[in-house]
Amino acid sequence: MTDHTVYEIDNSGIEPMSNTSNNTTFGEILAQRRQFLKGSLSTAVAAFMGTTLVACGGDDDKKKSNSSSSSSSSSSSTPASSSSSSSSSVAPLLGFTAIATNRNDTITVPTGYTATPFVPWGTPLTGSLPAYKADATNTGAEQEQQVGAHHDGVFFFPIDAKTTHTSSTEGLLVMNHEYIDEKLIHKNGPTLGATRPADEVRKEIAAHGVSVIHIRKNGSNWEVVTGSPFNRRVTSGTPMDIRGPAAGDAKLATKYSPNGTATRGTINNCGMGATPWNTYLTAEENWAGYFVNKDAAQAREHKRYGVSNKNGRYYWELADSGADEYVRFDATTKGATAIDDYRNEPNTFGWMVEIDPFDPEGRPQKRTALGRFGHEGVIFAPAVEGKPVVCYSGDDSQNEYIYKFVSAEPFHKATAGGWLLNTGTLYVAKFNADGTGEWLALDVTNSAFTAKAATAGVSFANQADLLINTRTAADLMGATKMDRPEWGAVHPTTGEVYFTLTNNTSRTELQIDAANPRANNTDGHIIRWREDADKTTFKWDIFLLGGNVGTVTGTGANAVTLTADNHFASPDGLLIDTRGVAWIQTDMSGNQQGTGPYGNNQMLAADPVTKQVKRFFVGPIDAEVTGVTVTPDLKTMFVNIQHPGDRSTPSTFTSSWPDGSGARPRSATVIVTKNDGGIIGT
Ligand code: FEO
Ligand code: CA
Ligand code: CA
Ligand code: CA
Repeated sequence: MTDHTVYEIDNSGIEPMSNTSNNTTFGEILAQRRQFLKGSLSTAVAAFMGTTLVACGGDDDKKKSNSSSSSSSSSSSTPASSSSSSSSSVAPLLGFTAIATNRNDTITVPTGYTATPFVPWGTPLTGSLPAYKADATNTGAEQEQQVGAHHDGVFFFPIDAKTTHTSSTEGLLVMNHEYIDEKLIHKNGPTLGATRPADEVRKEIAAHGVSVIHIRKNGSNWEVVTGSPFNRRVTSGTPMDIRGPAAGDAKLATKYSPNGTATRGTINNCGMGATPWNTYLTAEENWAGYFVNKDAAQAREHKRYGVSNKNGRYYWELADSGADEYVRFDATTKGATAIDDYRNEPNTFGWMVEIDPFDPEGRPQKRTALGRFGHEGVIFAPAVEGKPVVCYSGDDSQNEYIYKFVSAEPFHKATAGGWLLNTGTLYVAKFNADGTGEWLALDVTNSAFTAKAATAGVSFANQADLLINTRTAADLMGATKMDRPEWGAVHPTTGEVYFTLTNNTSRTELQIDAANPRANNTDGHIIRWREDADKTTFKWDIFLLGGNVGTVTGTGANAVTLTADNHFASPDGLLIDTRGVAWIQTDMSGNQQGTGPYGNNQMLAADPVTKQVKRFFVGPIDAEVTGVTVTPDLKTMFVNIQHPGDRSTPSTFTSSWPDGSGARPRSATVIVTKNDGGIIGT
């Protein structure tokens, strides 16, 4: 029996704002807010540029129109250009003709390119290879052997990744399955009364997680290598280990793992990261809503993350079998102690999870040293022999933070492995108004940290407790509240780090700051920074503001103005390829796509040197374009399409992509190739 009066699911992808800390914003502490911010943003740009720049080419106020026909700028005045010795002598990075926005239920790419759907939800992958049933009547057991739903972060590991890392014709395509459309995953939608049919719950859990897909090029077509031992599903029920400083802590002890070193599943896997040792890190983003805790007073490690006190997102806790694997989603205190119930189950989520795609038997490892929050993804700085491993991760909720992890042990290619992520220092970012920034250590032995904790009257039993409560620790240090940090990318030659800030409609005029300069930020922006030599401070500026045609980023000769060739909103997925092209994907809401000037979600290509930006890809109706990876030769690009037709009902589909002819929409990968066999984007 379906009871939609109580079965209300928020699939917006936005966790309820749970940052109630009183960290000040510049806007709140400065009386002359507007004048100051206007000046400070300019100062910020100057500070960022000043680290690397020689003179700008021009001194006039001419706005550089960023149209597709504009050629490489003669005033190569960005930091990337100053570090790239060849930038002034090479052809423009972006050789294609920009495409227009549209509201079509298809993939649109520039003339001379081809887009081919691949491995949609339900593709048989393992075991008995159960066929996808177009009426969504596959069982839970079948879904466990099929590609999951809601494709997101994705990475192509060349089959020779562990040695030469060169194959562009065979590899392991590893991707996340962020969540489900409950109205589309079952023939008649979800069933809910006092309980839920256990097999519906099993299917939903199995549609989440990660797929490892062995693929190979056959002629000009990519195919799944059927029967490959590498093909694998990791789901929201797969047993996995907990490692790092929080492993074994009493707050991770559950009935399933009394010693707090294991859990089942990874949830709401959004973006990802590839480690320098060729493993895959999957990010647990909006995991908190999958749990319910009806205790009168929730512990801070639940409350600060937005665990519901009413019901889990999909009511998995109500599975009618009453099996332990389902009731664990109810974290209400029920037993005598923590090992008699699942009060601590949510504490085993919110981590980055390492999967070695080349070890099909290996248990995924939750790496607690990287902190616990709404991880969007992770991006590694290029590894340097003998130096620590450095990676960055954003917490995608309104007014949350950007973090950096630096390993305690140095990277050595011959011995590198996931153990490097078990010890190190976690930092959180503070963006100052003058274009400088600081990395603030979250470390119970750090005197700056302990002093702030003492002043605030907040205590952590140990580093494990701090990491389980990463957000609370970051609050204490006065980190900068950001406009929903999504993906990051590191420029291959300059080392600059770029992060998308997708939007933040909760930010008020009083809360704007130099790094988040717009109130009711519906369109988002992209920020970037460059580490200082000591690696504890940095210089930053705003790379690009999202918005309608005419939106201007920067001033003077450095200004860029969005045109019909590149206007966009809600940047999310991000990749900078080895040529230095930044691929920017958007995740506008259905309303923003339907009523705004931007059309369907899209992917743009940007040259960070010239700030030329061109629209390259438009997705189908009611879908998000999220996840992009390329083969080493840059001639095959894999782009993920998530939740096409997400405003469908069980009987009326708003999209039929990719199968067409009125079929049930399903998430899928898109293979993009250039018809002349060339490099994507040239
Ligand atoms: Fe799942 Fe922040 O996007
Ligand atoms: Ca999404
Ligand atoms: Ca995302
Ligand atoms: Ca998003």
